[in-house]
Amino acid sequence: MVGIFDSGIGGLTVAHAVTKALPHESIVYFGDTAHLPYGDKSAAAIQAYSVKICDVLLQRQCKLILIACNSASAAAYDLVKEYVGSKARVMNVIDPVVAHVGQHFAGQTIGLIGTKQTVFSKVYDLKIKALRRQITLKSLATPLLAPMIEEGFFDNTISHSVIETYLNDSHLRGIGALILGCTHYPLIKNEIAHFYKGSVQVIDSSEIVADAVKRQLEADKMLSPGNAKPARHFLVSDFTQSFEASTKIFFGKKLHLEQYRLWE
Ligand code: DGL
Repeated sequence: MVGIFDSGIGGLTVAHAVTKALPHESIVYFGDTAHLPYGDKSAAAIQAYSVKICDVLLQRQCKLILIACNSASAAAYDLVKEYVGSKARVMNVIDPVVAHVGQHFAGQTIGLIGTKQTVFSKVYDLKIKALRRQITLKSLATPLLAPMIEEGFFDNTISHSVIETYLNDSHLRGIGALILGCTHYPLIKNEIAHFYKGSVQVIDSSEIVADAVKRQLEADKMLSPGNAKPARHFLVSDFTQSFEASTKIFFGKKLHLEQYRLWE
């Protein structure tokens, strides 16, 4: 069983990529819809939620836990890794992207957009700097984008105008690539690519991360056998019809969500 968690349903973009890369793996997804958004929360709050979620995923015998949320990866990865210890492998959505950037963009200036938590934590800056590949990172918090996408506002005039306003920020001038540092953003990848008209490479982390999970399970010799029939469970800490309806946007098909209250 692979455990995947996010503040809500945006991480389903990553879960979807994982099911494509690893069709025989069972997954349990936890969306902390009771506490969303994480992007505006303190690191301490996100850490407390993340640890609680890991308890649930460990109860379900997860061999690997993927933090499918940039905000939680930035705020809670180190703590979660220590908390989980040897009970499961822990991965986040930032390290595989940083490794990708190090391989492909040495000596270049690249951009990052994400929530306030992700951008102000400076985790990407620190990890990219540690690569020592002369990469300059220009980061911009874009807090309107996640709620906008959750409301189904993408590929329309409102999303065009919000995206354009953010990307025209002078801070992002001169970048050769842009990291989509939020698991909601694959939904607006095409609009962002259209804005740059090919002059900036748009880095979508979902596939990069799914591939890294696959390689990690291979390296740990923990891949499920090719004939395994996968189970898939999608839990949320607060169920609403609206969340369930929105799963279609992020996973490509409507999912059944099960309610799991974290503090009962
Ligand atoms: N999924 C979160 C992330 O990747 C964004 C949504 C939130 O703020 O909770 O950062």
